[in-house]
Amino acid sequence: MSNYHIKHLEEYYQVYRKSVREPESFWEEIAEEHFLWRKKWDAVLDWDFSKPEISWFKGAKLNITENCIDRHLTTRGNKTAILFEPNHPDEVAEHISYNELYKRVNKFANVLKEQGIKKGDRVCIYVPMIPELAISVLACARIGAIHSVVFAGFSAAALATRINDSDCKMVITSDGSYRGSKTIDLKGIVDEALESCSCVETVLVAKRIKTEIYMKAGRDQWLAPLLAKASDVCAPEIMDAEDPLFILYTSGSTGMPKGMVHTTAGYMVYTAYTFKNAFQYKENDVYWCTADIGWITGHSYIVYGPLANGATTVMFEGVPSYPDYGRFWDIVQKHKVNQFYTAPTAIRALAKQGTDVIDHYDLSSLKVLGSVGEPINEEAWHWYNENIGKKKSPIIDSWWQTETGGIMISPIPYVTPTKPTYATLPFIGIQPALMDENGNELKGNQVEGRLCIKFPWPSIARTIWGNHQRYKETYFSAFDNKYFTGDGALRDEVGYYRITGRVDDVIIVSGHNLGTAPIEDAINEHPAVAESAIVGFPHDIKGSALYGYITLKDTGETRNHDNLRTEINQLITDRIGPIAKLDKMQFTHGLPKTRSGKIMRRILRKIACNETDSLGDTSTLLNQEVVQDIIDNVL
Ligand code: WTA
Repeated sequence: MSNYHIKHLEEYYQVYRKSVREPESFWEEIAEEHFLWRKKWDAVLDWDFSKPEISWFKGAKLNITENCIDRHLTTRGNKTAILFEPNHPDEVAEHISYNELYKRVNKFANVLKEQGIKKGDRVCIYVPMIPELAISVLACARIGAIHSVVFAGFSAAALATRINDSDCKMVITSDGSYRGSKTIDLKGIVDEALESCSCVETVLVAKRIKTEIYMKAGRDQWLAPLLAKASDVCAPEIMDAEDPLFILYTSGSTGMPKGMVHTTAGYMVYTAYTFKNAFQYKENDVYWCTADIGWITGHSYIVYGPLANGATTVMFEGVPSYPDYGRFWDIVQKHKVNQFYTAPTAIRALAKQGTDVIDHYDLSSLKVLGSVGEPINEEAWHWYNENIGKKKSPIIDSWWQTETGGIMISPIPYVTPTKPTYATLPFIGIQPALMDENGNELKGNQVEGRLCIKFPWPSIARTIWGNHQRYKETYFSAFDNKYFTGDGALRDEVGYYRITGRVDDVIIVSGHNLGTAPIEDAINEHPAVAESAIVGFPHDIKGSALYGYITLKDTGETRNHDNLRTEINQLITDRIGPIAKLDKMQFTHGLPKTRSGKIMRRILRKIACNETDSLGDTSTLLNQEVVQDIIDNVL
């Protein structure tokens, strides 16, 4: 029996048991049979969560692009690897075959080398969803450079922070980007960011919107002429299993974003394995994940996982609402998409448009529907199931994180019976635990607690770039000898998991993780602001939206609150990006604080969520009187 492809429930349980009882021999067999190695490993797994140190396939040598591209050329050279669907439906889609992808990645890799990029150098990629994004990612991997993709919706300040944190030598960008009816001046944002980044020597610019842009002499170069001159053969850099493949930033509850470091072999094995099973991908299927490659979902399930399986993966440049709300269904029909993976926020936005728009399209190619990024509410689940899947395509509600690299808890379609709002069963090799507040594991079923993972899996992030101590404190200190996810979950009577949401100060808005601290820092920069606190509140489409309580400095002047709201949201847009704008801002006379001066966000959260009946004990507060005042003026 091959354990690579799970086809029925009994097999799932059997393989799962094996993966838990003998994890090393299990993953060794998967690695051995399904990937291309230049040298095999000396040890499958070494780990110590107390340090924490984790290594998979130590001593092995490989290049991930040989696995994602080269090895498919003999059998799938003319098959479409990347199917690029542009922003506007009138622009023709581009089918990039494996043969062509090979050439384009190799050319790009040679350009990187000519520009002085070597193994281990960090390259920041700030590119919209055009083929150059996937190709630049793979080109870095080809030569062993560490890519750090920054979502091209982040502001100049957020980009600069990320470039400086990992000392990037190069930035790859484009002249601009299309997003629905808008164009965005990406190069202008890069120029602004680079005013505060001395580490960047070169900027490579892809042409997309073809407007006049400023090119700084000696630093900026157009990509096209360099690619035209470059050879289309570039020998892959032979990497150690544990060499870093990429850095990807994610928000933390406090301070700077965390540069999660993923390494080569384990990440490859796990993303490939989960892709195959979570989507039941079969040769000739067309798979589409609507995420942006700027997020982990795009890294693992647009680029690496699908390509490692020789799949056809769709890359869509645009947005679900342009030119109208039928755009997703238009793409499904046009390319006969078989697996469709999106976020609950998109499902809710589309559901709001009604079903007329769907009825124009033939969605009969769909076999698997996926959801990721935040809990999917029951209404959205049923809408997705009935109107998109026509009750024939199983919904895989897949729970995972930037830190986990790949899908951790999810149904396997046509294998695991689904249950609305439940991510269901742990993936092969994943050992979840629910913990109570005293650090005890809750055994048995029908329990609710904090979600931890007890045993390493191949694609766990190995560290935070430049700050191993923070890695240890964030993930391995809350519970002894366990990885703590930051999420709460419950386990039902049959052992299915339901994720209940974050238990820290991270708020997920439209599927994007936002830490409260950096937003508060941005608000506090406003000269009129004394202090602020951000909490999440339920929102129809975004899942959660941001509610800000803001105390102004007492200067004796009266301020126009509407102007202040605009100015504060502008500050947030400048410091982080438009995704972090507040939906509501309440100006308060003070914020509830503990006697040690800590803001009691729990109380503010209840007020924002309209749950003032269950505020709990407020008698320990330093300034109990502000609570009633806040309730009286709630928005
Ligand atoms: C949340 C995205 C419920 C969760 C891949 C997690 C989910 C955070 C689900 C990670 C799901 C993701 N059900 N919650 N199916 N998927 N989450 O790093 O809170 O962008 O910790 O990774 O999203 O978000 P990230």
